[in-house]
Amino acid sequence: MKITAVYPGSFDPITNGHIYIAERAAAVFDEVIVSILVNERKTSAFTVEERCFMAREALGHVDNITVDSFNGLLIDYVRQKHAGVIVRGLRAMSDFEYEFQMALMNRKLAPEIETFFIVTDPKYSYVSSSSVREIFHFGGTVEDVVPDVVYEKLKGRYNAGR
Ligand code: PNS
Repeated sequence: MKITAVYPGSFDPITNGHIYIAERAAAVFDEVIVSILVNERKTSAFTVEERCFMAREALGHVDNITVDSFNGLLIDYVRQKHAGVIVRGLRAMSDFEYEFQMALMNRKLAPEIETFFIVTDPKYSYVSSSSVREIFHFGGTVEDVVPDVVYEKLKGRYNAGR
């Protein structure tokens, strides 16, 4: 049986930590859909089109990964895609409580869908999209934690006003 997994998130922007999780998921499941949340209630640094573009560029080397966007409830989207699995990455214990609650809530809403956690590489355990944006904004080094396409976009975005 072919298993499709959805790896959802804000990906604002995608980091090497996300790429690591997506690659590992692609080694386990037949198809992985990296799905970017369109959240009208939350302001994002990059538009959904920009986030999709960066994710596609960064993951183009993996045949069984596609990039998409979604709005509304995650479980509705997962069902619509006929996917049986939600993939989430875990960096540290501090992620666990939020992820545990979300997995249980999603299981209550859709008992047939499994949440599958993949533990990050320790070298990405401190990397988050928000810290990348902030560090870059204040002149710190982020080249080694984001793909080239994101680094270029960050330069375009935050250097414009310098
Ligand atoms: O990268 P993030 O911001 O931690 O991802 C969170 C995401 C997108 C997975 C979560 O907010 C989500 O699934 N939102 C869609 C709305 C939904 O289904 N909410 C109920 C989850 S319990």
